[in-house]
Amino acid sequence: MKLELKDNKVFFENKGHKKEIHPFWLRERVNGENFVDKSTQQRLFDPTQLPENIQIKDLSLKSNFLEIKFNDGASTKIAIVDIFKEFSNINDVKQIEKIKWDSSFRDQNTFKFKENLFETDEMYKALINFYQYGFVIFKNVPTKNNFIINFANSIGSVRRTNFGEFFNVKSKPNPNDLAYTSLPLAPHTDNPYRNPVPCIQMLHCIENEVTGGLSTLVDGYTVSEKLKKDFPEYYKILTEVKIRFQFIDESVILEDWAEMIQLDENSNFKQVRFSPRLDFVPLIDKEKLELFYSARKKISELYNSKNYRIEFKLLPGDLLMMDNYRLLHGRTTYDANEGNRFLQGCYIDYDSTEGRLKHLKRKFNY
Ligand SMILES: [Fe+2]
Repeated sequence: MKLELKDNKVFFENKGHKKEIHPFWLRERVNGENFVDKSTQQRLFDPTQLPENIQIKDLSLKSNFLEIKFNDGASTKIAIVDIFKEFSNINDVKQIEKIKWDSSFRDQNTFKFKENLFETDEMYKALINFYQYGFVIFKNVPTKNNFIINFANSIGSVRRTNFGEFFNVKSKPNPNDLAYTSLPLAPHTDNPYRNPVPCIQMLHCIENEVTGGLSTLVDGYTVSEKLKKDFPEYYKILTEVKIRFQFIDESVILEDWAEMIQLDENSNFKQVRFSPRLDFVPLIDKEKLELFYSARKKISELYNSKNYRIEFKLLPGDLLMMDNYRLLHGRTTYDANEGNRFLQGCYIDYDSTEGRLKHLKRKFNY
């Protein structure tokens, strides 16, 4: 990438393509203290109030800066690296490459909790790992009731759902309520019926005296890539047909229509939803439905296969943070008469983790 100047015009060249940069685009980026607030980087002027015929009056290229004078009297120095950054569309989070994993994954992605963790280099590394693998486990997190809210709000802000600000996953010896059962939970994603679906789930283990009740995780990205490779027809239909996910209780009806494998604008992986008790397939052509049902059966088989699942026991003080758009989670069965098992959970959205990651990157100059 390079910049060229000619006749008071700025040209940007990238891989043999040369284009003029609109003078108004540069005028919007004037950055002296009269134009931009130093700490917030917010503009002190409204570009929609500027005259439309902004032109460059004088221009020079210094080693790292472009110096510009505009015809409305404004002048500025713009760092060339900042211009390049905007043209290369750099997104700190999207740049982190996802690493696929299956049941052979051994590195448990653990980080130790400590005072001030959220402002440390360690937290930056934990967040990078989170985006690479879709989960991270913090050890030694104080086992205080509701500490999870504290933890979540230190990264960003808690996303409230129909289950409240946080939820309890609890078992008691001789359970007397369905909420306290110890039945196994098959791999699923949470809240597929919400719009938007909560991005990240946190689960904090306060007590765990039982021998079973292992947490299970499956990488939905690995499974959908496998499906794409081995069963392209199945992959295609699961990325095309929108199905209705639904939750109903006395006070609310929540519904959202989405594909089981959702792709982004570049046809890359974006999100999986899987919760076979809550999904309703639309009445489409019989042949299409036939293919859809086979595809759903196959992806369910892969999600439930031992080949893709990791299992581990959450111990008191462990806090699991997982990507609800990428991973499926579940639990193996256990004997509730063995003792207490008490976990607390909540959700946060991506803007929280992205915001903290970018802040830490800036702070440590990465
Ligand atoms: Fe869940």
